[in-house]
Amino acid sequence: MSKISTVSIVGGSGYAGGELLRILLNHPSVEIKQVTSQRLVGQPLSVSHPNLRGQTKLKFSSVEDLQECDVLFLGLPNGVSMDYIEKFKSLATHIIDLGADFRLNSESQWSEWYKKEHVKPELMSQFAYGLPELNRDQIAGSNYVSGPGCEAAVSILSLYPLIKHGVIDPTSIIIDAKMGSSQAGNSFSSSSHHPERAGVLRSYAPTGHRHTAEIEQELGEYMPEMRVNISATAVNIVRGILVTIHTNLNAENLELTDKDIRKIYRQEYRNEPFVRIVKQSRGLFRYPEPKILQGTNFCEIGFEIDRRSNRLVILGAIDNLVKGTAGNGVQCMNLMLGLEERSGLGFMGLHPI
Ligand SMILES: NC(=O)c1ccc[n+]([C@@H]2O[C@H](COP(=O)([O-])OP(=O)(O)OC[C@H]3O[C@@H](n4cnc5c(N)ncnc54)[C@H](OP(=O)(O)O)[C@@H]3O)[C@@H](O)[C@H]2O)c1
Repeated sequence: MSKISTVSIVGGSGYAGGELLRILLNHPSVEIKQVTSQRLVGQPLSVSHPNLRGQTKLKFSSVEDLQECDVLFLGLPNGVSMDYIEKFKSLATHIIDLGADFRLNSESQWSEWYKKEHVKPELMSQFAYGLPELNRDQIAGSNYVSGPGCEAAVSILSLYPLIKHGVIDPTSIIIDAKMGSSQAGNSFSSSSHHPERAGVLRSYAPTGHRHTAEIEQELGEYMPEMRVNISATAVNIVRGILVTIHTNLNAENLELTDKDIRKIYRQEYRNEPFVRIVKQSRGLFRYPEPKILQGTNFCEIGFEIDRRSNRLVILGAIDNLVKGTAGNGVQCMNLMLGLEERSGLGFMGLHPI
């Protein structure tokens, strides 16, 4: 029998924490030790995660009461993990931060995009960027991993093969991202108030989306001159992201066919357990759709070439709370602990839903 590792979740009352719990309570090689919430100390986990009723006797603890464990997941708002990080390092050998504090390599870039001074810049280089499809070996060899932003995860996965194979113009990439409401977390604001959020089709970041920095950081490894423009729109769903990415085939690759593009994706993702290329010539489900992916760790990618304008339009879909956060974090944990990478992540989704 394989060793059971102890796992605690900081910020476990939030949406990312809830999904971590749903996945980890069914994981064969871990035991959940503690889950924190500052608001709900002493209350059962089902107070904030009603789907977990009867699944665990654990109650919320405070950050101050955390004990030693093997793996610590951090589901804290951006800018909070770095304040506690020395304490967390003294408690756990492995840390997976789902927030943004350790995603970027550059302190100045971090301050520019997050409008705040970084209090632990010397630790930024200790965290591997947690996207297994690009950084599997680095993650497996790391004690500290930083999970990608959800919008960045699906955009990077959609673009990576095309950037690596040099078939698109790296300076003209437009990411049109449609985002569900759960990506903003479970705290209330005027923009999440039901009468203001329900039914919207609201542009909230036509330019200047923070995930620009990590997308350019990760894909810039393959093409330093690459630049992306993100336009993010809030849509009337709770879970899911769909990115429609407009790119231009570069001059040497204008003749590429569907078969060639499919081959490029297959070359990079043939053995990836959680990436599926979806492009059917007919039927209802011709392209990726976030609704089908709810609760799963899959990222689906499709594409279409527009011969008239030489554009290659890529479509990427994920569940922001699973491949965009918690599921991807568990995939990283499996790699860090030397476990089967798909462990705990077998949920196939629901249809109809
Ligand atoms: N939601 C997504 O789709 C998504 C996708 C990718 C990455 N992420 C990242 O994952 C992290 C968590 O996101 P989320 O959506 O789960 O957020 P959330 O629903 O707002 O949950 C935040 C959690 O952090 C705790 N918390 C807040 N301030 C704290 C403090 N000062 N000290 C200790 N605990 C504190 C909250 O506990 P209380 O019960 O005490 O309030 C709660 O458990 C964020 O960094 C986010 O950027 C989220």
